[in-house]
Amino acid sequence: MWDERYSTDEYVYGTAPNIFLKQNVNSLPKGKVLSLAEGEGRNAVFLAQQGYTVTAVDSSLVGLEKGMKLAKDQGVDIEFIHADLMKYDLGQNQWHGIISIFFPLARLDRKALHKKVVNGLRKNGVLLLEAYTPEQLKFGTGGGNNIEFMQSKKSLIDEFTSLNFNHLIELERTVIEGTCHTGMASVVQAIATK
Ligand SMILES: C[S@@+](CC[C@H](N)C(=O)[O-])C[C@H]1O[C@@H](n2cnc3c(N)ncnc32)[C@H](O)[C@@H]1O
Repeated sequence: MWDERYSTDEYVYGTAPNIFLKQNVNSLPKGKVLSLAEGEGRNAVFLAQQGYTVTAVDSSLVGLEKGMKLAKDQGVDIEFIHADLMKYDLGQNQWHGIISIFFPLARLDRKALHKKVVNGLRKNGVLLLEAYTPEQLKFGTGGGNNIEFMQSKKSLIDEFTSLNFNHLIELERTVIEGTCHTGMASVVQAIATK
């Protein structure tokens, strides 16, 4: 499905970074950042431009190839990894930061991945996440229509019990990030430290 979506010259989520990431990038300690489900490279390129050492993982080869082109055009180095994050080993205590921007996963898969995120973060490492909430179904401006893929303050608190939340809110905001995320939306945002 994602390869098909990305099979166009257009960057369907744009080439500009996610706004929440852009506004809060200084929350991420300098060092190694892992971008989960990076897609077409917009957030990884932005992080690399800020001086982070970026690893970007996605299961769509078509998306990653666009990401590689964007990185080349912008003159930044990024490690792109083609992998299913359900199988990918995030390692232990190695990331200064992990970002997850609009990564839709079924609940049990998400819980399993979020365990790996906690283990993968170094002490004082930071998770930065934005996702659609169940309320997004009434807007229909991105994120599909499967409620199981939506996240909330409650799901994040349940799944990241061992992290300290510096920021955790649900809000309605206009998301204009490419043609696939466009319009008023209901999101949850989190910044949490290990
Ligand atoms: C809505 S897009 C978001 C892309 C990017 N984070 C952004 O905000 O521009 C969701 C991404 O999740 C990726 N994805 C879905 N399931 C995955 C999995 N199991 N492992 C790795 N990537 C996955 C898709 O290929 C797609 O690029």
